[in-house]
Amino acid sequence: MDYITIALAKGRLADLTVDLLEQAGLNVSEMREKSRKLIFTDEENKFKFILVKASDVPTYVEYGAADIGVVGRDTLLEAGKDLYEVINLGFGACRMAVAGPKELAGHLDEIHNMRVATKYTQIAKNYYHLVKKQSVEIIKLHGSVELAPLVGLSEVIVDIVESGKTLKENGLEVLEEICDLSARFVVNRVSMKMEAQRIMSLVHTIQELLKQ
Ligand code: PRP
Repeated sequence: MDYITIALAKGRLADLTVDLLEQAGLNVSEMREKSRKLIFTDEENKFKFILVKASDVPTYVEYGAADIGVVGRDTLLEAGKDLYEVINLGFGACRMAVAGPKELAGHLDEIHNMRVATKYTQIAKNYYHLVKKQSVEIIKLHGSVELAPLVGLSEVIVDIVESGKTLKENGLEVLEEICDLSARFVVNRVSMKMEAQRIMSLVHTIQELLKQ
């Protein structure tokens, strides 16, 4: 029997995913040990788990290097890959929003060629160009995005808001909501056909667990 490989997004989501997979009956004991290993095996059930950077999960699943991935909807929207999004796992819930100084509330449509700083350039482009049909300049950053409006790099940011603490502590607030986010269970299109039985069995087990 071939192994089924699951790509987990390193960090907080990985910890929650490990808990879920354990409840679903997989042996995740190797992953519980603190180590720098990136690949783990459940010999009994013939599963492999790989730990990858969140933004790389869609790539591993798209190419079939992983059959399954567990990753945030933000990462999936940004990657725009053709994957089966099978389950909304519910954890890692947060939202994608436009944020900026509160003085801009109600005036966003008046700013000519507004500059938008973000890690999520695809999500920002879709939102402004396709949804709002507004011409903006999108500035790519890699982190600490909240800084941009504070030092005049941009008027607003598009970023993830979880508790809202980062915005508040930097004098910013949510000006527009873009969408809700949470962790998703995604499957490679070929794996879904070739390993339908084992993958759907895991999917059903997880769906039952989520109902509890
Ligand atoms: C994320 C996001 C916000 C913060 C939101 O940052 O980009 O900065 O979390 O959380 P809060 O609403 O609970 O304060 P992340 O930790 O990924 O760091 P980075 O964007 O600076 O890399």
